[in-house]
Amino acid sequence: MRYAEITGWGKCVPPSVLSNTDLEELTDTTDEWITTRTGIKERRIANVNVSDMAVVASRHALAAAGLEATDIDLIVLATCTADVVIPSAASLVQAKLGATNAAVFDLNAACSGWIYALNVGTQMVRGGGHKKVLVIGAEKLSHLLDFTDRGTAVLFGDGAGAVVLEATDEPVGVQSVEIGTDGSVAGILCVPGVGTAGNRYQGDPSEYAIHMDGPEVFRRAVTAMGEASSRVVEQAGLSVEDVDLLIPHQANIRIIDATARKLKLAPEKVFVNIASYGNTSAATIPIALTEAIDEGKVTPGANLVFAAFGAGLTWAAAVVRWGARVKPLGLSDAHLPSVEKTAMELLESNVAFYGDGRRSE
Ligand code: ACO
Repeated sequence: MRYAEITGWGKCVPPSVLSNTDLEELTDTTDEWITTRTGIKERRIANVNVSDMAVVASRHALAAAGLEATDIDLIVLATCTADVVIPSAASLVQAKLGATNAAVFDLNAACSGWIYALNVGTQMVRGGGHKKVLVIGAEKLSHLLDFTDRGTAVLFGDGAGAVVLEATDEPVGVQSVEIGTDGSVAGILCVPGVGTAGNRYQGDPSEYAIHMDGPEVFRRAVTAMGEASSRVVEQAGLSVEDVDLLIPHQANIRIIDATARKLKLAPEKVFVNIASYGNTSAATIPIALTEAIDEGKVTPGANLVFAAFGAGLTWAAAVVRWGARVKPLGLSDAHLPSVEKTAMELLESNVAFYGDGRRSE
C-alpha cells in the first residue's frame, strides 16, 4: 500500500508585530481582556501578499525535504485570502518557486483548510497520480479586518506554513482523517462584500471585513474539534495514551483547552503558540508543526493529532504517524524582504478607511 509521508516542513511569519497594547490604540480593548479571553499577546501583519509568504514557507519545506522545486508535481494551497481572485495564489507560488512540473490549485475551507489540503494531497499520492506534493496554508487575514471592530481585530494575524508529502511504502503520514461542513450556519462567520456577490459599484465598507458571531462560533468550534478529534483517534485504532502530540488550530486558548479536555490529554501533549501569532487561519497548524519539530516535540514514529474548525462552518481532524526523520535534510535562507514600517504604520490605510466610527460590539 502507498502512503504519503511528511518529509519537509517550513514556516514564514512576517516581521511586523502588532501587540495587544497597539490594539488598545485602535479599538476599545485591553491587553488584559485579549490575554485572558483568547491567549493572544501579539500577531504579525504582512507587508507582502499571501503568495510571497507561501513561497518562503515552501522554500524551507523543500530544503528540509532535500528537494528542488522542480521535483514537486502538485501544489495544494489552502487559503481564503488569495492575492487576487484570478489566478489562484497557487499559480503565483508555482511561478515564484519555479515549480514548473507541478499542477496547482487553491483550496478554501478557511481555518480548516490545511487539514483539508493535507487530506487531498495524501489521497492524490495514494491514488498513484502524484509523488511529491507541497501542501501549504497561507493567509493574510489582516486584509479582511476592520481594525476598529474589537470583536474580530484582536483575533487574527498573517503567516504561512508548508509541508512536503512524498510517496512511501512505510505506513506513515495520515492514518485517519475527517473533514466536514455545516453550510446552514455559514452566515455566523463571513465576509459579505468581497466576491461576486458583493455590490461592486456601491460597496458598504463594513462588508469588506469579517463579520462574526464570536460566541456561536466558539460553541460550535469546541464541539466540532473535540468530537472530530476523538473520532479520528478511534478510527486510527489508537487510544488517547497513544497520542504523542495534539497540534490544534490556534484560534482561542479556551477552545484549545476544551479540545484537549475532551481528548483527556495532558497539557504537555498539546502544542500551543497562539500567544505569538493569533489565528492565522489555514496557516496555524503548519506553522505550529514546524515550531514543534524545531523544539524537539515531534519524535520519530510519533502519533500526531491535528484538529481545526473554520468559516463554512468547516471542521477537520487527522491522525498523522510521523516517519523516522525529525531533522531537516537541508536549510534555506529564504525570508521576506525587510519592512520599513511598523505594524501600526502598515494599518494606517485600514484605520483611515474605517474612520473613527469605532465599533464596540
Ligand atoms: N475587548 C474587550 N471587550 C470585548 C472584546 C475585546 N476585544 N470583545 C468582546 N468584548 C466584550 C463584549 O462586548 C462583551 O461585553 P458585555 O459583557 O458588556 O456585553 C464581553 O466582552 C464578552 O463578550 P463575548 O463575545 O461573550 O466574549 P467571549 O468570551 O465569547 O469571547 C471571542 C469572544 C474571543 C470572539 C470568542 O467568542 C471566540 O474566540 N470565538 C471564536 C472565534 C473564532 O475562533 N473565529 C475564527 C474562526 S476561524 C476562520 O475560519 C476565520
